[in-house]
Amino acid sequence: MSKFIINGRRPLRGEINVSGSKNAALKIFPAAILTREKIRVLNTPEIEDVLRAQEMLLALGHEVKKIKHGVIDIKFNTQKCVALPPELVSKFRASIMFVGPILVTCGEVHFPHPGGCVIGAGTRPIDLFLDPFQKMGAKLEIKDGHYCLKAKKLKGVEIFFSKVSVTATESLMMTSCLAEGETILKNSAMEPEISALADFLNSCGAKIEGAGTPTIKIKGVKKLNGGEYKIIPDRIETGTFAMLAAASNSGNILIKNCEPKHLEALWVLFDKIGVNFVLNKDNVLIKPAKKLSACDVITHEYPGFATDLQSAYTVLMTQTHGLSLIHETIYDRRLLFADMLTQMGANIIMADPHRVVVNGPSKLHGRKLMSPDLRAGMALIIAALIAQGKTEIDNIYQIDRGYEKLEEKLKKLGADIKRIN
Ligand code: EPZ
Repeated sequence: MSKFIINGRRPLRGEINVSGSKNAALKIFPAAILTREKIRVLNTPEIEDVLRAQEMLLALGHEVKKIKHGVIDIKFNTQKCVALPPELVSKFRASIMFVGPILVTCGEVHFPHPGGCVIGAGTRPIDLFLDPFQKMGAKLEIKDGHYCLKAKKLKGVEIFFSKVSVTATESLMMTSCLAEGETILKNSAMEPEISALADFLNSCGAKIEGAGTPTIKIKGVKKLNGGEYKIIPDRIETGTFAMLAAASNSGNILIKNCEPKHLEALWVLFDKIGVNFVLNKDNVLIKPAKKLSACDVITHEYPGFATDLQSAYTVLMTQTHGLSLIHETIYDRRLLFADMLTQMGANIIMADPHRVVVNGPSKLHGRKLMSPDLRAGMALIIAALIAQGKTEIDNIYQIDRGYEKLEEKLKKLGADIKRIN
């Protein structure tokens, strides 16, 4: 397994570019199955999960061509393949996004339980996908751990999501574009990636209203055209780099090519903490601050504070004065990485699996660590960059799943980080 070797406490300053959103990119590749025409994707992040999504399309018999860095052309092939390759499905959770488009265009789809991050209850349930598909007329069979859905056609229905789910909202929204009649999705997720996907599908001829609100209405159409889709900036990468800059507190850092308006919940917290920052249209400037104060946070679906930013925020709280309660409401086990911060010298009490109390500031020192999941792995890198001494972070495939050219970007800021394959 590859690992990072980091020597901490180097002053960090300069500019860092944000890549296209992983969680937007992972949905456009399955959505491409809904049209027979070419789709050109711009600002595509070259990260492991997105490469897996492209491999999935190729495995299903579609054309995927890299025109140049960040620009990918996708073309549906007439070849019908309805079985998702298990070795790919096990690699990333978003593989579930391919199920709906294959079901609605081919009439059947076979797949194992999706893999990917270790976070979330048990094996990350998929009931919010299977129940609506069956309500739309699909027949479900489960044979030795494999799901098989069959439907001559899918009929538009009213669906109330028992839990707010980003991928379930996106999956049903894109699949309903080709269902018969109107589908109404209630208690939908409102993430910016959902609105961006709806805008793109509408530009291809879909009839989607209400994306970005809890109720989305989709009128089924006979076919979708092709089009061009520029992926929005990754708001999680933006927020993560902003918290790195605040925690390092050692120089001016300009975060470029981002969308500050997608992170209002973070900027409100930055004001309370006393971070010295300036928001501009497509960049954020973080400057050193005299004193940072601890501030409680509770994660919440968008537009609340994103669960994907929670681990970086926990590291930031180890550098602020006072006590902060961090309450992770979305996923089980997402706070377990706090143990590793304690091993690095942080003063953190695990109140229960969903709440930790951080007592700061504390001096961190380097350690040998293993990256548990994508976002915790990135948080450990932030901790390593501000810790005294050397840190070794193993299993960085998890980090490569979501952050493009990470060590290059950090080296440009002055970080002492090396990848050992
Ligand atoms: C998306 O995951 C993101 N992934 C996650 O980002 C993000 O953390 C999450 O939304 C919340 O913002 C992608 O977009 C690819 P959920 P998703 O379905 O949609 C439960 C990252 O680091 N649930 O919103 O898979 C589930 O267990 C990743 O980039 C069911 O109960 O998350 C969780 O408790 C991590 N049944 C809650 O819903 C289902 O069928 C929210 O999960 C599906 C989900």
